[in-house]
Amino acid sequence: MNTPLLDLKGQYRSIKPEIGEALRKVIEGQDFILGEEVRLLEREIAEYCGLKYAVGVASGTDALILALRALDIGPGDEVITTPFTFFATTEAVSLVGAKPVFVDIEPKTYNINPALIEKAVTPRTKAIIPVHLYGQCADMDPILAIARKCKLKTIEDAAQAIGATYKGRKAGSMGDIGALSFFPSKNLGAFGDAGMVVTNDKVLADKIRMLRVHGSAQRYIHSRIGMNSRLDNLQAAVLRVKLRYLDRWLEARRNNAAYYNGKLKGLPVVCPYVPDYNVHTYHQYVIRVSGRMAGLSKFLNDGGIEARTYYPVALHQQECYKSLGYRKGDLKEAEKAAEETLAFAVYPELEKREMDQIVDRIKEFFMV
Ligand SMILES: Cc1ncc(COP(=O)(O)O)c(C=O)c1O
Repeated sequence: MNTPLLDLKGQYRSIKPEIGEALRKVIEGQDFILGEEVRLLEREIAEYCGLKYAVGVASGTDALILALRALDIGPGDEVITTPFTFFATTEAVSLVGAKPVFVDIEPKTYNINPALIEKAVTPRTKAIIPVHLYGQCADMDPILAIARKCKLKTIEDAAQAIGATYKGRKAGSMGDIGALSFFPSKNLGAFGDAGMVVTNDKVLADKIRMLRVHGSAQRYIHSRIGMNSRLDNLQAAVLRVKLRYLDRWLEARRNNAAYYNGKLKGLPVVCPYVPDYNVHTYHQYVIRVSGRMAGLSKFLNDGGIEARTYYPVALHQQECYKSLGYRKGDLKEAEKAAEETLAFAVYPELEKREMDQIVDRIKEFFMV
C-alpha cells in the first residue's frame, strides 16, 4: 500500500528517544505488572478526562467487561446499545451473561439515536452503552436524561474517543463509567493491548481494582470471582510518553479532516458531520458514498490507497446474534451506514501530498 490507513512508524520515530528511555527505566527496575508507571498513568488519565479515578486494565474489551461486572450486570439483564460499533461493545455484554438490545443510529453522526432509546427500555434494562464512534461523542445529554428517568446506568464506550469533548466534557467522563482502549491503532496507542476504566465513583473504582486481580483486594483473599486483567508497566510507560503529545496529535487529525472536507466539496460524498456541541478526534475519517461505496473502495485499494468500512456488518446481523431475532430492515440506518461508509488515512503524520493523492484518486473515480 502506498497510503495505508495507519502508519505508526512516523509517530514512533518522532518520540523514539523518550520511548527508549521510558522502557529502559522499567526494564532496569524489573517491575512489570501494575507498578509505578501504571499508577502514574492512572492519575494522568483520570486528570486528562476530568475525573477522580482511572483503573488500568489489559484491554478496552476488559474495561467494558469489568465496568459491567462492577455494576452487577449479568444474566437476565438487558443492555441498550448501538448496532454500529466494533464487536467488543456487545461481546462484553454477552460475556457477562446479559442481553444486548440494539437501538438504531443517527444517520449523520453514526452514533446511537437518543430519540429511540426510551422505547427499548423494559423492566429488565439495566444500562445503556453509548459508543463514541470514530472519535466523536454520542449526544449524551438526552441519553443521561433517559438513564436518570429510567434508573439505568450509563457506560460510555470511549474506546475510540479519548480526548473528544461533548459540550466541553471529555469522552468517558459523563456516564457512571467510561471504557478506554489503548490498542496500538487507537489515537493513544500502546505497544500491545491495554485499556482503562475511568469513573468518579470510588466504590466502582475500588471494585474494578479488585476484579482486575482475581477478585482480590488483599493477597490470597478472594472476595469475588475476578479475572486477570492487569496493565503492564511497560505499556503504561509508553502511554505516559505518548499522552504528552496526544492533544497535538488530535489537532493534527482535525486539521487533516478539515483539509479533506475542503477538497472533497462538490463531489457526491458526504463528509463527517460534527454537531456544534462536539469536538471530534477523528480516530477514523469516514465518508458516506451512496450506492457506489464498494466501487470506490476497490478503486482506492487498487490504486494503493487503503480504504475500509468500519463496520461492514451491523451487529444485529452477525451470525452469533441470530438468536436475538433481529431481521434485515429492523435497524435501517445502521444497515445503510454499513453499506455506504468508507474510511481512509487521517493519521497525524500524513503529508499533504498523500492527502492530495487520495483526493485525486476519489475525483478520478467519479469522473470515469
Ligand atoms: C468501540 C470499541 N469498543 C471496544 C473496543 C475494544 O478495545 P480493545 O481492542 O482494546 O479490547 C474497541 C477497539 O478495538 C472499539 O473500537
